[in-house]
Amino acid sequence: MKISGNTILVTGATSGIGRALAEALHGKGNKVIIAGRRQALLDEVTGRNPGMTGIAVDLSDTAAIAKFAESVKAQFPQLNVLINNAGIAGHEDYTADAVDLERAYSTIQTNITGVVQLSAALLPVLRAQPHSTLMVTTSGLAFVPYPPGPVYSATKAFMHNWLDALRVQLQKTSVEVLELAPPYVQTELGGPQQASDPRAMPLEAYTSEVMQILEQNTLEKGEILVERVKPLRTAEKDGKYQEFLDMFAAMHV
Ligand SMILES: NC(=O)c1ccc[n+]([C@@H]2O[C@H](COP(=O)([O-])OP(=O)(O)OC[C@H]3O[C@@H](n4cnc5c(N)ncnc54)[C@H](OP(=O)(O)O)[C@@H]3O)[C@@H](O)[C@H]2O)c1
Repeated sequence: MKISGNTILVTGATSGIGRALAEALHGKGNKVIIAGRRQALLDEVTGRNPGMTGIAVDLSDTAAIAKFAESVKAQFPQLNVLINNAGIAGHEDYTADAVDLERAYSTIQTNITGVVQLSAALLPVLRAQPHSTLMVTTSGLAFVPYPPGPVYSATKAFMHNWLDALRVQLQKTSVEVLELAPPYVQTELGGPQQASDPRAMPLEAYTSEVMQILEQNTLEKGEILVERVKPLRTAEKDGKYQEFLDMFAAMHV
């Protein structure tokens, strides 16, 4: 993807990785539209970044996604980059007699169904542009699951697999399909303590490495992989899968 002159929609850009990427892309001369549920944060981010537009949407709500996609299409017919970054995470304990599945279901809705629906709705706009990009934020956990969060990990493995298929379907169109697979990063995804967890990659370092990969076009088969996530990406091939699984089982976020 070219680094400037795009019209980019970033979902999940009220905080964390989405916000940092949206601000970095805004700084490179792109028209950036940010989306998320928290209106106060949309206002704060757009206030700090003149020219940026914020749209509130709940991506766990099918009807709201349809309305949102229509409004984006009408307001930004030149949209050529969709970054599906919004996501939630949670834990489930399948050793319990009654597994609490509420969070699991909303994780599937936000991390999978919402992404599939929004992508399908906006692909006609992307396909109409000479150069466009559809990106999804997956995770290093797409390649080795984190045992306390089976559904979360599986949503990311689903998206990895889905993107591989989509890339083939869209290869003769103007749409390139990219996967952003972060390692463990200092955001509040897993709770406030994660933002200062020394085991996690600082957000600024992560964002600047991602921007460098995009600018220098050092993508690997459509995957945006910072150095820190590469051992997870190749764990199975390297014979390290079980080692990572054991390490994650002993770790608590
Ligand atoms: N941080 C990590 O260690 C890590 C590692 C691998 C992958 N990731 C992935 O990176 C992405 C961003 O996460 P993050 O770490 O930056 O966490 P974060 O700060 O919690 O950001 C999550 C974003 O998603 C938005 N979001 C969540 N549910 C939504 C909904 N129903 N509708 C609309 N927006 C929604 C949130 O906005 P609102 O609350 O305002 O709606 C927020 O902007 C996620 O897909 C996550 O799975 C993170």
